[in-house]
Amino acid sequence: MAIAQVLSGQGLTTGKAPFVENARSRGDLYISQPYELYSEDNQEAWRRLYARIRPRWERYANDHFLRGIEALDLPPDRIPRLTEINRRLKPLTGFQARPVSGYVPGFIFFDCLRRREFPTTITIRPAEKMDYLPEPDIFHDVAGHVPMHAENAFADVLVRFGDCAHTAVEMTAAVPDPAERARRLTSIIKAMSRFFWFTVEFGLMRGPGGIVAYGSGLLSSYGELQHAIESGEVQRYPAQMEWLINQGAEIDRYQPLLFIVDSFDHLFDMVDRLERWMRQGKLNNVAPGLPEVNERDLQSFLDAAFAD
Ligand SMILES: [Fe+2]
Repeated sequence: MAIAQVLSGQGLTTGKAPFVENARSRGDLYISQPYELYSEDNQEAWRRLYARIRPRWERYANDHFLRGIEALDLPPDRIPRLTEINRRLKPLTGFQARPVSGYVPGFIFFDCLRRREFPTTITIRPAEKMDYLPEPDIFHDVAGHVPMHAENAFADVLVRFGDCAHTAVEMTAAVPDPAERARRLTSIIKAMSRFFWFTVEFGLMRGPGGIVAYGSGLLSSYGELQHAIESGEVQRYPAQMEWLINQGAEIDRYQPLLFIVDSFDHLFDMVDRLERWMRQGKLNNVAPGLPEVNERDLQSFLDAAFAD
């Protein structure tokens, strides 16, 4: 029996997608999006997620995101085909959504951004877990991240992040003692991850009518999007570099602390400064706390530093 026949009907549900698990066990990071494998339940999950959040986008999302949804013609009634999204996206900023089988180690992730490729999950959360999923799915990646990639100023921010990862590699290779090298690198990766977390994932921006969201973790979460803008319990402060890189992230609940940028040019300048601070050694000793830097993240930077 053909593999496609064996796998069809099983769906591409997060945590239950044999096609993706097989790719992972073969060690394949980059995969295709076998569209015919999506089950009717998968399509229904997308329709419900989209219909539920759309009014909140109109109210709380930044204008660039809403324009991105239109420019990419993101379908409300079915899971998008990445080839269709990419056909519209490429002429705008050069960005492409590239399907992956799962977790992408730190350096490889940032290096993809530098090449204007966004590692994209193809599975979708189970319909009964609409609200919380610890790992990304296609709704988070394609409805939360990808519309932002249609905006040039934001796309340039992501590319600049990729440059920072290369600078981290350069700094790493210059440290002779392996233990000190790993310690510094862990601190630098932590600083970069926190900066990314508080901006690209959970960032707020000043808009003409008040505060709006541009972070993809907010834009793909029906509950947290409103909470981030409306709740009196959330601390919202102007983005400040020294705070962003030292503040521990919260991973299992709504963010109690969010940072506001003035514009994407402002954000770009901050990523520039992140790189300068890295060169000056200011990221070598950031405060302990989340996120943890795992072995694969660390190794991905070391591999890049000592590749032939
Ligand atoms: Fe994300």
